[in-house]
Amino acid sequence: MKIAIGADHGGYRLKEILVPFIESLGHEVEDVGCSCEQSVDYPDYSLPVCEMVTGGKAERGVLICGTGIGMSIAANKFPGIRCALVHDLFSAKATREHNDTNVLSMGERVIGPGVAQEIIRTWLETPFSNGERHIGRLNKVAQIEQKYNLHP
Ligand code: RB5
Repeated sequence: MKIAIGADHGGYRLKEILVPFIESLGHEVEDVGCSCEQSVDYPDYSLPVCEMVTGGKAERGVLICGTGIGMSIAANKFPGIRCALVHDLFSAKATREHNDTNVLSMGERVIGPGVAQEIIRTWLETPFSNGERHIGRLNKVAQIEQKYNLHP
């Protein structure tokens, strides 16, 4: 898969570890920055990642900031983006099976690189269940976007 990845200064070091890890899993990675630990604003990095996913230029997105919270809030403003903030393996699997998430957010100040790598591996490898009840719920989420004219 093509994976877009972005981080702010709070997630920069973890991003630098995750890029080669994702590539080692056989995926192509497009890194939108940031490129050092100088203070930046997380929405400036969620934007290009989410635009790549909704525009079909990447199949999935990965976002990292200090907590993962800011990135996940910003990402979920984008129509068509389903972003999960994940810090454990159970959620990594469940959010693919139940929510068909296309963007993953993590916090460098919350988890270590070993856990982050296993979360990424699980999240990338787990398919959506295609369960009827989950599809119905995701359709209701899409209806909220449509109601407020947010659907792409
Ligand atoms: C930056 O200090 C920090 O606020 C940011 O990385 C993120 O945690 C925001 O949610």
